[in-house]
This record gives sequence, C-alpha cells and structure tokens, in this order.
Amino acid sequence: MSHLRVRSAVSPVRRAFASFEAELPLVADLVAIERPEEPMHCLRPAVIADAARAFVAGFPGDTLYAVKCNPEPAVLRALWDGGVRHFDCASAGEVALVRTMFPDAHIAFMHPVKARGAIREALVRHGVRDFVFDDASELAKILAETGDAADLGLVVRLALPKGPAVLDLSGKFGASHDDAVALLRAARPRAARLGLSFHVGSQCLDPLAWRDAIQLAGEVIRAAGVPVDVLDVGGGFPVAYPDIDPPPLGAFFAEIEAAFEALDLPGTRLWAEPGRALVAAGGSVVVQVQMRRGSTLYVNDGVYGSLSDAGALGFRFPARLIRPEGRAPSEVLRPFAFFGPTCDSADAMHGPFLLPEDVAEGDWIELGQLGAYGACLRTGFNGFDRARLVEVRDGAALGSD
Ligand SMILES: Cc1ncc(COP(=O)(O)O)c(C=O)c1O
Repeated sequence: MSHLRVRSAVSPVRRAFASFEAELPLVADLVAIERPEEPMHCLRPAVIADAARAFVAGFPGDTLYAVKCNPEPAVLRALWDGGVRHFDCASAGEVALVRTMFPDAHIAFMHPVKARGAIREALVRHGVRDFVFDDASELAKILAETGDAADLGLVVRLALPKGPAVLDLSGKFGASHDDAVALLRAARPRAARLGLSFHVGSQCLDPLAWRDAIQLAGEVIRAAGVPVDVLDVGGGFPVAYPDIDPPPLGAFFAEIEAAFEALDLPGTRLWAEPGRALVAAGGSVVVQVQMRRGSTLYVNDGVYGSLSDAGALGFRFPARLIRPEGRAPSEVLRPFAFFGPTCDSADAMHGPFLLPEDVAEGDWIELGQLGAYGACLRTGFNGFDRARLVEVRDGAALGSD
C-alpha cells in the first residue's frame, strides 16, 4: 500500500497506538516512556472528528475536506467519523487514496490545472465526476478526456482580488470576471452540474471577505445568464494561534448564508472546501532540544520538516515543555527562537515561542495546532527523514472557536 503514501520523500511513519479512543495515551506519558529522539507527530482523532461535526452541522451546504491539508489516513478516518462525506482532491494520488478508503465518498477534483492521465484515471477508475477549471484550454482538456461522461460536474474557479487572508492565493489560479462569464456559458451545455468556485486565501480572519466574494460571484452568474447549480465558497476558514484569536466559525457561516440568500439563487447549492479549520487543532509535533545557545534552541524538526509555516511565513505555534523527570521546569516564561536540524541557515523559526526560561538540551517541546500543512509538507532534506506518528487522547492545544 506504500503508493498511497503521499510523503514519498520520507520514510513511512509508524503508528504506535491505534486502538479505542479511551485507550489512547497522553502525549506526556508517551514521551516519558519512549523518550523520542526523532520528531513525533501526535494525532488527536477525537479533536478532528469534533471539528468536522461542528463544521458539517453549521455550514449551510456540503462540506468538502481539502485533502492536501493533511492526507494522513487516520485523519481521513476521523473526518469520516465526524460526518465528512465529500472530499476536495488536488491530484490522482489523493483521489486514489480517498476512493480506496471510502468507496461511497463524493470526490471533486479541484485542481484547476490537471494532467490528462489524472483526469482519465479519476473518471474511469475512481468514478469522479466533478472537475474544476479556470481556462478554456482546461475545459477543452476535461471534455476531451471525459468524453461523453454522464453526470459531469464542471466548476469554474473565479479569481478574487488580493484580500485580507494571511496566505494570499489570488495570484496563481482563477478566471477574471469576463473570462468566468464566458466559461460558465461554454460549460453549461456540457454540464449536468455547473458550478462557480473561489478561494479567499488561507487563514482568512474576516468573514466579510466571503460576503464580497459571494457578491462578485453573483455578478458573474447574472452576467453569464445561465443557471448555476453550485456555488463553492472554498476554504480559508481560520483557526487560533498564540497571537491570533479568530471570530467563531458561526460568524463566517452567518455572513456566507446572508450573502448567498441575497443573491436569490433558489436552484443553487453551497459547497465549502475547508482544510485548516477541520484538522489544525488535531495535530501536534513533539521535538527535542539538541542544543541551547542563549535564547535560541536547536531542535530536531524544522522548515524542511513539519514546521515549514514557522519559517518564512512566521507562524507561531503554541509550545509546551515536556520534561518527564528531574527538576520541575521554571514557571517563568521567556521567548525563544528555533533552528531546525538541517545545515541550511534558512532552517530558522523566529517565533517567538514562549517556554520556561530554564529549557535545556534533552527537553521535549510539544508544538500544537499543527494538524494542517504540517507533517504533510515534510521532506527528507539532509537525511532528516524519520518521524513517528501516534494517536493520542489529549485535547486541542488552543480553542479554534
Ligand atoms: C482549492 C483549494 N481548496 C481548499 C483549500 C483549503 O484551504 P484552507 O486550508 O485554508 O481551508 C485550498 C488550500 O490551498 C485550496 O487550494
């Protein structure tokens, strides 16, 4: 089954404990027993299932999990347990993974630029019917490769102006207003389901970003003059980090519902493609301090591992010291920066991460809110390709609501 692993650049992770929720260990107990010298990824299936349940119940439409955010099978299982039945896949590998795990899942292929073989494989081998595009050439490619497939869903990705999101996604994909109008008209006769989608950018703290985007989508739909079956409001729903306290998810759903109702499109269904909001709180990594130099800690994971967002993007993750034996850690907290294990000086994370002032070599640090865009971004750079995966029963490091 190794082909189902998307992390081909790293050695397969091992699951130490996979049993009933109540029997899962606590992170601190595991560290005390195992004393891990390699990064240890800790999944919280119950936290992920709860986040999924809350999103599915609150969002006024279908919830498609953006698999790229964390494709770990244990994560997908927890999402399924939480009621997620729709998946936004970006590649043939993700499609195959989801279909193997969930024969009945609805899968949408939401990468706007696809290999021809990937379209065929998704359609023929995995029954995918929904495909996104933002250009006439990609529409022609999808139509050519899907032939006369019945029940085809064609979704136009609309470009948005740069918005308030922490991670801007406006530059790479999306059709302009006029191009989106032309694409909707061109696709309508070939589509059993016609859709319009957008993405406001990841970790978007402002619910009004969705209102503006939905208004723009409404203008495009009116100008196209064709019925649209799906309005896909993308991902971007934010979570908490130590310096960020986002509005509750309900505020985003309320804004989306109000803006959508104002469009008065009774035959149109809403979709969302959340990634971060479903899984961030459900993952952490335990790193070990290998050396301390002043207020800088050399730790065994870094920007080429699961801490990529802590590098150039400057994400701060909640940090807690784990010292199973010896002196109790100081109660005085100080700011620390990290260097990762590779020889690249870009492998630096400025944080600051707040830790007891006496943190020392050999201590462990758990970094939370790392279930999204963490472990799945690991590389084997410099040979640091080993990590473990364990399931734990700890709660979230920070509330996401
Ligand atoms: C097309 C698409 N949908 C959904 C997502 C998930 O976004 P987020 O994790 O911000 O919710 C992404 C992330 O890049 C994306 O590209």
